[in-house]
Amino acid sequence: MNTPRWLALALPLAFATFAGCSKKSSPGAAGNAPAPIKLGFLVKQPEEPWFQYEWKGADKAGKKYGFEVIKIGVPDGEKTLAAIDSLAANGAKGFVICTPDVRLGPAIVAKSKVAGLKVIAVDDRFVDAEGRFIEEVPYLGMSASKIGHLSGSTLAAEMKRRGWSDDDTAACIVTFEELDTARERTNGIIAALKESGFPADHIFKAPQKTTDIPGSFDAANALLAQKTGIKHWLVAGMNDTATLGAVRATEGNGYAAADVIGVGINGTDCVDELRKPSPTGFYGSIYVSAVQEGFRTTEMLYHWAKDGTKPPLDTRTEGQLITRENFEKVLKSEGVL
Ligand code: GLA
Repeated sequence: MNTPRWLALALPLAFATFAGCSKKSSPGAAGNAPAPIKLGFLVKQPEEPWFQYEWKGADKAGKKYGFEVIKIGVPDGEKTLAAIDSLAANGAKGFVICTPDVRLGPAIVAKSKVAGLKVIAVDDRFVDAEGRFIEEVPYLGMSASKIGHLSGSTLAAEMKRRGWSDDDTAACIVTFEELDTARERTNGIIAALKESGFPADHIFKAPQKTTDIPGSFDAANALLAQKTGIKHWLVAGMNDTATLGAVRATEGNGYAAADVIGVGINGTDCVDELRKPSPTGFYGSIYVSAVQEGFRTTEMLYHWAKDGTKPPLDTRTEGQLITRENFEKVLKSEGVL
């Protein structure tokens, strides 16, 4: 069978294009352009959409500046230290990390110094053996207390709008106090509730053992089982996952969606929830740009590795309320959806 004329013309063109591309993408082979800088991005919970959006932001920065991002999930200390070894072996210049345990800070710093890797902490700030922040490591994270306040004042405003009485309303705040950013957020929530006039003795903490949905579900479930005579619940925590688990617990304890106001933080891990055809007790979330956090931290690290420009030591990000009404619009404009 004869080759069709269009194919005969197209084939050499396709090969030429392919050869051109492959030359461009392997500068080492071409012999002149330097290999791209490699930077690591290590996260404690790669299954959380928040961290996947941080990776997305890091890739965006990599595309803009021409560096390569090595993304590694580090759910525990052993994997974290192994990841640093592997970055060093791969010739990386540094890494951004949300550590699985902030007390690993000194070990991470020591290992990185030996390996000649620059480190930026994102989200969860390193602490030393005494629990003090390791301030010489550049950090970028949420304005935790302010964002917590916004969550608490949202609960108070929505409760008022629904005309609920203080008498039969209580707040279930899922806490994880061993992590500073989490404690600052939940303290902010509680402070804002009190400032709104909500009775302090109707605010209950439910400490979560693990920072996932089962962890917050169990914590809230234990509290709800103890507290009887409550008609309405206000529910919040340090992130969307904390609030989602607690909202599920209210459902399991027989509370209707209309009797629960849940407010999360992150805005990335509640998209499926807000898209459910009928509203649940999850009212909204304080959205913070994970994409921007990933972009900015890797951008800082790149300049530091390339030109020696040391990043600012403490950079904070802001939040805004998203609900079923506006989340599609906000998340689309932010490039998350
Ligand atoms: C912590 C939480 C994440 C996210 C980040 C944001 O690491 O575990 O879900 O909220 O903070 O800084």
